[in-house]
Amino acid sequence: MRSLDHKLIHGFIIVSLCCLLAGCIPAGDTGADSGITGEELITVGFSQLGAESDWRSANTESMKSVFTKENGYELIFDDAQQKQTNQITAIRSFIQRDVDYIVLAPVTEKGWDTVLSEAKEADIPVIIVDRQVDVSDESLFTCWVGSDFELEGKMVCMWISKFLGRKGIKGEDVHIVDIQGTLGSTAQLGRTKGFDHMAKLYGWDVVAYEQGDFTRSKGKEAMFKILRNYEDVNVVYCENDNEALGVIDVLEASGRKCGGDIANGEIMVVSFDGINKQALSHLMTGEISCIGECNPMHGPRVESVIRKLEAGEEPYKYQYVSEGLFSADMSVTSVMLGGKEYKVTRKP
Ligand code: AHR
Repeated sequence: MRSLDHKLIHGFIIVSLCCLLAGCIPAGDTGADSGITGEELITVGFSQLGAESDWRSANTESMKSVFTKENGYELIFDDAQQKQTNQITAIRSFIQRDVDYIVLAPVTEKGWDTVLSEAKEADIPVIIVDRQVDVSDESLFTCWVGSDFELEGKMVCMWISKFLGRKGIKGEDVHIVDIQGTLGSTAQLGRTKGFDHMAKLYGWDVVAYEQGDFTRSKGKEAMFKILRNYEDVNVVYCENDNEALGVIDVLEASGRKCGGDIANGEIMVVSFDGINKQALSHLMTGEISCIGECNPMHGPRVESVIRKLEAGEEPYKYQYVSEGLFSADMSVTSVMLGGKEYKVTRKP
């Protein structure tokens, strides 16, 4: 026993001396490379749903650039590869690691009650970002930050109606298809709902709905199917830019011209996001007629929620980002919805 004590004391002196000489602090002290002295890092577990689109990559980057050690955070990032089961596993591991905050970008709306109850039980605040969760008890999450997807859908449809109306095209002559995003996600549910509402209002002929899963490859598959089965489609409503790129690939390969002159055989393509470079260059040259803005830069917004919580304040439960429309054609300069004017600009 004595010799063990002796060894321990001896060891302690050696370690302390080494530390003094090297001017270091013990490994494992997160202050070592944090740039923040004397303050503990706030740990944030972020479950990102995947990397299906350029929007998603920009969103991930926005989060990573804010939750840095220099800013006082330890970020644990998990990419769920578009699978809800992976997101649930990630959240459980964040709970086990006793993080300070959980940030969740959910792939679809339903199926979160159990795991969010576990986070609540562990007393870890959950901030939902981008898409929403459909839970029976709203106290299972602290707040949500993201876009009004239904409004985005309505804005794009109103733009189509105004743009074609100026060319003298009637609602019944609009033969439109909706290439939907990941089914059951708020972005899909909202954009489809906005589309359905406006299509009915304007008397459009809705030819078909196809699944595009927010990806270029699924957008391609969907457009192939549409061309095989329907002849008179003249407008394609894509629920994001990546789908639109796939649609344009197929239309151009089949000898069609993408553009707003549908009276002369062009096929009009509209979409959402405004992040992908190729989509933006198609916007400039008219292959994409209009893009509904969807802003992915949520990192600073989520961080400001955390700062509020750290200060003991209560953030707003639902925090909507304000957005507009992009089009190279400036014959429509704005749309009015719910008494509010939304501007059209040439580019982001
Ligand atoms: O939830 C936002 C949507 O998800 C974006 O429009 C899309 O590009 C992404 O995959």
